[in-house]
Amino acid sequence: MPTTLRDCLAAKARDPSLADLIAMVVHTSAEISALVRRGALGEVFGALESQNVQGEVQKKLDVISNDMLLESCGASPALMAMASEEMDDIHPVRDLTPEGGYLLLFDPLDGSSNIDVNVSIGTIFSILPAPRADTPRPAVLADFLQKGRAQVAAGYVVYGPQTTLVLTLGDGVDAFTLDPETGDWLQTGSGVTIPVETKEYAINASNLRHWAPAVRGYIETCLEGETGPRGKNFNMRWIASMVADVHRIMMRGGVFLYPWDAREPDRAGKLRLMYEANPMSMLVEQAGGAAFDGHGPILDAEVNDLHQRISVMLGSRAEVEHLERLHRDA
Ligand code: AHG
Ligand code: MN
Ligand code: MN
Ligand code: MN
Repeated sequence: MPTTLRDCLAAKARDPSLADLIAMVVHTSAEISALVRRGALGEVFGALESQNVQGEVQKKLDVISNDMLLESCGASPALMAMASEEMDDIHPVRDLTPEGGYLLLFDPLDGSSNIDVNVSIGTIFSILPAPRADTPRPAVLADFLQKGRAQVAAGYVVYGPQTTLVLTLGDGVDAFTLDPETGDWLQTGSGVTIPVETKEYAINASNLRHWAPAVRGYIETCLEGETGPRGKNFNMRWIASMVADVHRIMMRGGVFLYPWDAREPDRAGKLRLMYEANPMSMLVEQAGGAAFDGHGPILDAEVNDLHQRISVMLGSRAEVEHLERLHRDA
């Protein structure tokens, strides 16, 4: 009998209410997956008039999946508050108590530009401990401003040819595939590890002219191939859905970069720290890889803002360490 997500959560979650919250997120992602699969038939394609806090035009599915997660996860008894790419402010659910509980952050729909073109997209989530409050009070923004290192769980679901969950509770990485016939999540990977070495990178090279010299130099030497200083021929992939690009790296290695560029404030990049970079960095570190922001490990980055953006370089450990040396020597 294959292991189900439920069995795995029962064995690994530090308390049943954390297992319940994760099961709720994953259950909702199966419902999002069903909508994604209907595509144009489900009338979920296209954009809305609204913009999110990042100044991005919201796609219908960004908002639908956000609302589905809000609605269902709110019922999880230990969930105190939520935050998302698609909401300016936090969404308190119930008062903090002396017993503590959890805060949930998500990118409800990652890879929005791929929704309407039938390319893999996904959902990313991060769970932080809620502060304990002797006198019950609603969660506030400051409660969320914790370093990625504080996460108690992180995961993503890819809506691709298969619907796959990749999850960590801080004790290695497990993978599960949704059985479309029964609706069960069956374990299809345990102790997932990212190969240490790689010859594959993922970057949106149209931004080359804006990159820092260390990143530009890195890609230029990769392009020189086996006769260059790296001594090997590199391959390149860019799906433009972080979930799908990171999933490929989880399965076969590689390095993913969305680095700082000259149009951004210092240390910032396009991607969001709290609901993209932190959960992916926890998964990557738990799989033996590394995640670097140009200064240090992403999981140790200072957090000042819920919607903070950050430079991201993550994946195969030896390749990220090479990038760290290039930045140190720059
Ligand atoms: P989102 O759809 O949640 O806003 O995230 C999109 C992100 C990420 O998934 C991807 O790696 C990156 O944007 C792609 O950016 P480019 O279009 O600049 O390549
Ligand atoms: Mn977006
Ligand atoms: Mn995203
Ligand atoms: Mn998104």
